[in-house]
Amino acid sequence: MSSPATPELSPAVRESTLARFAEHRRAWDANPALRACYARWYQLLCSALPPRELGAWVELGSGPGFAAEFIPEMILTDIVQAPWHARRAAAEALPFADGEIGALVLFDVLHHVAAPVRFFAEAVRVLRPGGRVLLVEPYISPLSRVIYGRFHPEGVDMSVDPLVTPPVAHEEKDPFLSNQALPTLLFCRKHVRRFLAMFPQLAVSRVERFAGLAYPATGGLSRRPLLPLGLWKALFALESILPEFVFRLFGFRLFVIVERR
Ligand SMILES: C[S@@+](CC[C@H](N)C(=O)[O-])C[C@H]1O[C@@H](n2cnc3c(N)ncnc32)[C@H](O)[C@@H]1O
Repeated sequence: MSSPATPELSPAVRESTLARFAEHRRAWDANPALRACYARWYQLLCSALPPRELGAWVELGSGPGFAAEFIPEMILTDIVQAPWHARRAAAEALPFADGEIGALVLFDVLHHVAAPVRFFAEAVRVLRPGGRVLLVEPYISPLSRVIYGRFHPEGVDMSVDPLVTPPVAHEEKDPFLSNQALPTLLFCRKHVRRFLAMFPQLAVSRVERFAGLAYPATGGLSRRPLLPLGLWKALFALESILPEFVFRLFGFRLFVIVERR
């Protein structure tokens, strides 16, 4: 199968996206608590990467490029190419040959992808058997639904069908527009059965909720930290010893491994 053509974006959309990357790099440099969170989450990702010999590790939607700090071998890409990205790549039209890739890493990206079904069809095509899609995404728990809904600039819409592709003109879509509910709907609700029926070549081997209030307390990429660093570190350490079921109620993050059979 040949890869579909990478969709075009308007110059205005490209410019505003690059400005967001720069903003996020500044926020990251200024926020040690946020960097500590990401370091732990990239550790989680790293531990699930398949052997490098299987095929390249490619990050989609690398944005500000934080992954380079934690996984130097990763090939960084984004739908809007910045100087630190190896190439431009849209999740729905991957510029790779069939069976060429070992891992596709999406860190806070799936919920921005306009057509998730097209992305997974592309993942089936480019991943070598034994390859993996690794996702770190927002999780919508009873607590995070309130906090994300009230304080996060991105939307939470639990009413959509994650397996239906809306008609979207890529050149008009802001790559930062999102529905934070999408990964929860897809992997933690009844839709997962439909997903597996649609993609029999894929298996969902891990769905893990994690990260409690320590995450929003960092302020994320758009706000100031809510706690002094010492107190924040104590909260972060406490959360790291809590069992997973706690995060079903209070979690903010989801880690998913999807395997190519
Ligand atoms: C919230 S940012 C996450 C950036 C980075 N992974 C991080 O964790 O900081 C979402 C990223 O996904 C990219 N993106 C959005 N839609 C995309 C698509 N269809 N294909 C590839 N990347 C996309 C955006 O340009 C943006 O860089």
